Amino acid sequence: MSGFILAIDQGTTSSRAIVFDGGMKAIATGQKEFPQHYPDSGWVEHDPEDIWKSVVSTVRSALRKAKIGAGDVAALGITNQRETIVVWEKETGKPIHNAIVWQDRRTAPLCEKLKKKGLEALFSRKTGLLLDPYFSGTKLAWILDHVKGARRRAEKGEILAGTIDSFLIWRLTGGAVHATDATNASRTLLYNIKTSEWDEELLKLLDVPRAMLPEVRDSADDYGATVSRLFGQAIPIRGVAGDQQAAVIGQACFEPGMLKATYGTGCFAVLNTGEALVRSKNRLLTTIAYRLNGKTTYALEGSIFVAGAAVQWLRDGLKVIGKAAHSGELADKADPNQHLYLVPAFVGLGAPYWDADARGAIFGLTRNSGPAEFARATLESVAYQTHDLLAAMRRDWKDGAEKTVLRVDGGMVASDWTMQCVADMLDAPVDRPTVLETTALGAAWLAGSHTGVWPDAREFSESWSLDRRFLPKMEAVERRSKLKGWRDAVRRTLSRQD
Ligand code: G3P
Repeated sequence: MSGFILAIDQGTTSSRAIVFDGGMKAIATGQKEFPQHYPDSGWVEHDPEDIWKSVVSTVRSALRKAKIGAGDVAALGITNQRETIVVWEKETGKPIHNAIVWQDRRTAPLCEKLKKKGLEALFSRKTGLLLDPYFSGTKLAWILDHVKGARRRAEKGEILAGTIDSFLIWRLTGGAVHATDATNASRTLLYNIKTSEWDEELLKLLDVPRAMLPEVRDSADDYGATVSRLFGQAIPIRGVAGDQQAAVIGQACFEPGMLKATYGTGCFAVLNTGEALVRSKNRLLTTIAYRLNGKTTYALEGSIFVAGAAVQWLRDGLKVIGKAAHSGELADKADPNQHLYLVPAFVGLGAPYWDADARGAIFGLTRNSGPAEFARATLESVAYQTHDLLAAMRRDWKDGAEKTVLRVDGGMVASDWTMQCVADMLDAPVDRPTVLETTALGAAWLAGSHTGVWPDAREFSESWSLDRRFLPKMEAVERRSKLKGWRDAVRRTLSRQD
C-alpha cells in the first residue's frame, strides 16, 4: 500500500480533488465548477448529477496529474458544503429533486411557523442550532411536502436522504453504504448533539421518516470503498467531515480555545470548546467540531453568509476591480475622512443577527465617494462581521475565548490589507499559515490518520507552520469609533426595527 491520500472537497460553487503525498504535501489538484440554479427569489439549487459528474472527473484528473493510479491511494477523505440536502431513490440512485442548497431561503415561512409555536428553544437545546432556513431539516421537509408521494416512499424505505457527503458515499460505494459523519449530521436540525442520535421528537415535528436517514459514524471511520469501475481500483473511504469542521482539523485547532475562520463565499468562524457543550446566549451555534474514536469534540460557530461574495460583487457587479486580488490596493487609496459602511446582507444576515429578510445597504455616501471608498467599506465589512462573531464568542465562553488567536484560511486571506484590518478590529493576532489548503488537508488527515499512514493529532499539529502573523495596530479610540459606526449601520439594516 502506498502513502498517497486523496481528498474530495465538494464546495458550493466547485468540486475539487487533491492528491497528497506521504509527506502531507498537496501534489496534484483537479477542480471543476458546476452550474447554480436560482428558480425563484431566494432559492438556490444544485443538480446532484452535476455535482456527481464534477467529483468523478476531478478525481480522475487529480490522479492523472499526480501520475498515480487508484491503487496507489491508501485512503480517501470527503469534505463538503454543509446543510445542502439531497433525496434520491434507493433502487436507482437517482435524485427525486434538485439539491436544496444551504443558502436557500424558501423555508423561512416554515421556520417562522415553528418559532411562533415556541419550538426554537427545543430545537436549539437538542441540536445547538436555531430555526433558520440555513439548516437541512426544513429543506428536507419541503421536498417531502412538494414531491408527490415522497413521504410515503420514504416511509417504505424507497427513497433516502442525506447531505452531500452522504450522497457521494452512496454513489461512490455503488449503493453499499448510506452513512454520514457526526459533523454533517449536526447541521440538519434533526440530530441530537448530546445523545449522538437522530432525535425522534424533532423528526416527528418536521415529519421526516427515520428510515430515510443515514447512519451516523465518526469523522475518521470505515465508509466502505469506491467501486473499482469508477477509478480503476477500489479506494477505501476513511474520513468525512463538513468543510468548516475539516478546516478546524486542517488548521490543527485540536485544543479547546483554538479558533479558525475560513473566508470563502461566506465566513465561518469555529472555536473548539473541547468536551464542553457550550450553549450560546448570543445567537451563535453550538456544533460538533469532530467525532474521533466515539468521542465528540464540540465547538461554537459563527456563520457569516457574505464575505468573499462581497468582493465578487465589487468585481462582477460594480466592476470597480478587474481581479479580486486588487481589492486591497484600491481600498488603501480610500479617503480616510470618509466613513462608508457596507452591510452586505445580500442574502439576509447570519450570526449573530439571523435576519433572513434583511437586505444589503450602504451608509455614509458623499459626493466624493468612489470605487476606493466602496472597496474599503467592502473589506472592512468582513472585518466588522468577524469582530461581531468573536465578541459573541468571548461573551459566551469567557475563559476559553478571551486570549485566543485567530487562524485564517480561504481565498480572501491572501489579502494582507484585509487580514490587517481583521486583526485591528478584533484587537487580537491573526495567523495565516503557509498551507492554505486547510479544508482538503483536514479531510485528508482524517482518512490518513485512520489508515495509519499519516501521523496522529499531536504530530500533525507540529507540522502546522506560520506564514505571517498580523498584530493589531489601530488605536483603541479609532477602533471604538469605527465599530460604533458599524453597529449603527447594522441596526438600520435589520428588517425588524423594533
Ligand atoms: O455551511 C455552508 C458551508 O459549509 C459552505 O462552504 O466553502 O462551500 O462556501 P463553502
